[in-house]
Amino acid sequence: MKIEFFKHNIGPKEISLVTKTLKSTFLSTGPQTSEFEKKFSKFLNVKNTIGVSSWTMGSLISLKCLGIKEKDEIITTPLTFVATTNTIIQSGATPIFVDVEEKTGNINANLIESKITKKTKAIFIVHLYGQMCDIKKIRKIADKYGLYLIEDCAHCIEGEREKIKPGQISDLAIFSFYATKNITSGEGGAIVCKNDYLAEKIRLFRYHGIQKYSSNKNEFQHWDLEEIGFKCNMNDIQASMLIPQIDSINKNLEKREKIFMNYAYALKNIIGVSFFEKLPATKHARHIFTIRVDKQIRDRLVKFMQDNGVGVTVNYRIVTDLNYYKKKFNSSSFPIAKKIGDSTLTLPFYPSLKTKEQNYVIKTLIKGIKNFSC
Ligand SMILES: Cc1ncc(COP(=O)(O)O)c(C=O)c1O
Repeated sequence: MKIEFFKHNIGPKEISLVTKTLKSTFLSTGPQTSEFEKKFSKFLNVKNTIGVSSWTMGSLISLKCLGIKEKDEIITTPLTFVATTNTIIQSGATPIFVDVEEKTGNINANLIESKITKKTKAIFIVHLYGQMCDIKKIRKIADKYGLYLIEDCAHCIEGEREKIKPGQISDLAIFSFYATKNITSGEGGAIVCKNDYLAEKIRLFRYHGIQKYSSNKNEFQHWDLEEIGFKCNMNDIQASMLIPQIDSINKNLEKREKIFMNYAYALKNIIGVSFFEKLPATKHARHIFTIRVDKQIRDRLVKFMQDNGVGVTVNYRIVTDLNYYKKKFNSSSFPIAKKIGDSTLTLPFYPSLKTKEQNYVIKTLIKGIKNFSC
């Protein structure tokens, strides 16, 4: 049996809207992008959404618009995808890593304050695997020290913590619509932002920094430029893929929740497999299904699963284990993140995954663990 690691949910509604857009005059940032932005803001109950070409570009322009520059420090987690830490470095700042909680893999809020210095400008949290960090506590720390709070929501559109949704109490929240995300346009992203002035600046920065001036409505409007931005606006083809998917977010979460239950039930008594915890007062976005196995067998198990037709991956090795970061940081300073990074394995997990496919994944995993554990 061959089981893909991921299958998207693009169906007739998305295809029909994309077709309509392709037949229209606007292909770049136009009415569909505005419609997507409105609908996404409504879904999250937030003020402003700005559609961009990817999470990565969204993060980079966000950091630029916050005025982050060389010698600044940004507190973050080492257990994330490299986009989080790469964009911090690309903004000129230095990432200051804080270890994570063993039960969730999220940044340990209790360790943040000890890492704050005069150079700290922001706390950049990642809601790993779909469970939100302790955002209320981290917001309080950010306020106490006058720091920006930024959320990496690449794994978390659907989550909640103590009734707070992504984007509701941070300064900026950044979303990804990359090919394997819960809603996707192949590539794409969005920034959610409470502050209207900052939202407007980000809007300019996604399109070179170009500004329209309208001092006199009877005169021709030349555009002008005050600051140099980037080119990373969302286009209407991406937006047309995303708009119908917003309506299916909750239904697809229910389907993933069922798959989660099936996997969790089947694996709960298997020696050598452990799970992250879902904390009380949280709604989990169930973005990916990541387990932990013995680090001695993890890589062999990944290969075994792949050789047996099951698409699996590792989310993530701690970033400070990667060559570029290794030269500057020492993974042993983040023992929990290191332990998790050495032992994670992510199984196929998407709404269209059939019961017999789930059962094959479980059977293959158990067989692999038995093979390598003796
Ligand atoms: C946690 C996290 N942050 C950031 C990104 C980057 O997203 P994008 O590919 O849209 O730039 C990803 C993508 O996989 C991610 O998983």
